[in-house]
Amino acid sequence: MAGKISIFVTGVTGYIGGTLLVRLLNHPDAGTFDITALVRNSEKAQILESKFGVKTLIASHAEHDRIEEAVAANHIILQISDSDDEPLTKAILRGLKRRHDKIGDLPILIHTSGTGLLIDDARGEYPTETIYSDLNVEQLKSIPPTAYHRNVDLLVVGADEEGYARTHIVIPSTVYGIATHPLVKAGISNPHSIQIPSLIRFSLARKRAGVIGKGLSLWPNVHIDDTADIYIVLLDSILHHPDTTGHGWEGLYFGESGEHRWLDISLAIGRAMYELGLADSPEPTPFSHDEILKYFGSEWRGYLFGTNSRARADRTRALGWKPKHSTEDLLASIKPEVEVYAKKQ
Ligand SMILES: NC(=O)c1ccc[n+]([C@@H]2O[C@H](COP(=O)([O-])OP(=O)(O)OC[C@H]3O[C@@H](n4cnc5c(N)ncnc54)[C@H](OP(=O)(O)O)[C@@H]3O)[C@@H](O)[C@H]2O)c1
Repeated sequence: MAGKISIFVTGVTGYIGGTLLVRLLNHPDAGTFDITALVRNSEKAQILESKFGVKTLIASHAEHDRIEEAVAANHIILQISDSDDEPLTKAILRGLKRRHDKIGDLPILIHTSGTGLLIDDARGEYPTETIYSDLNVEQLKSIPPTAYHRNVDLLVVGADEEGYARTHIVIPSTVYGIATHPLVKAGISNPHSIQIPSLIRFSLARKRAGVIGKGLSLWPNVHIDDTADIYIVLLDSILHHPDTTGHGWEGLYFGESGEHRWLDISLAIGRAMYELGLADSPEPTPFSHDEILKYFGSEWRGYLFGTNSRARADRTRALGWKPKHSTEDLLASIKPEVEVYAKKQ
């Protein structure tokens, strides 16, 4: 494989990582990529190898030594599986350092965080005026170390500051849309996102759309295909313009192409449920405290769905990212997703 660009990617059986792997396999420069995917399910690994020509490392995130070794053997690391696994991140960073120390390479890490980084405690009661831009480094630096995802993000930026790797963090928001690519069809990758499907499942279970508080808080959104595009545009920029592609503190890239109120999602779920005969009324009602504990698992997890998180992907757009979807597409994506989950009930 001499001369090829070695890429180690995690999370390919997941929603974002699976969509990204398909994009890598269809990339115009795919012939120059030598891709190894971390997969913990050996049957899925076997299909990836035989049908898709992807090398695999069968391991879980907890196998730190094996992950460190795999990272040290690759020039580019795409971490698309867990924004919050600190020991995993430390193993990845040890692998990057090992590679740098051994061969003098400046390895590349693209880590995945989330705009949960920016949340407040609004509980659906009000929208905030505070908007973060990924071009505003001072504003990004002001986020407290206790913020969600921040412990891991700071480790990643720290590695860049130490100089043994170039690090970048993609920060998607509410990713939406059902993935339908070949890895989903082969039963390898998860077709569903996290936030909206959770609200749909909980609403179906209580037979009425639910909302946290008044649902007035705001979040950004980004379609799954536009999300995969961010990684591709960033990767292309790193490969073709290494010296002008922002990294470290200047390497945080939001994924956002619109903004919504939580209430608008709940209204769309309610309308879909009513039209499908799954609720007596289209109007959402607030989740009670008991329901928050029952469905979301904890108060914190429930109130997360009533936070504000406002972000502008200015740096991502400056890279050349041109998202094709808007908040109208997010709202239109909800009924088909309600139909899928209604069948699973
Ligand atoms: N979806 C969103 O809206 C969104 C937005 C912002 C940030 N993010 C973040 O982006 C990351 C990926 O999200 P996603 O929606 O693609 O999630 P997902 O569909 O649940 O995928 C998670 C991936 O990580 C793998 N994984 C999890 N734990 C593992 C372990 N212990 N060992 C090996 N592999 C493991 C899963 O493998 P298995 O298939 O074996 O479980 C799967 O491939 C998450 O950290 C998420 O918080 C997501």
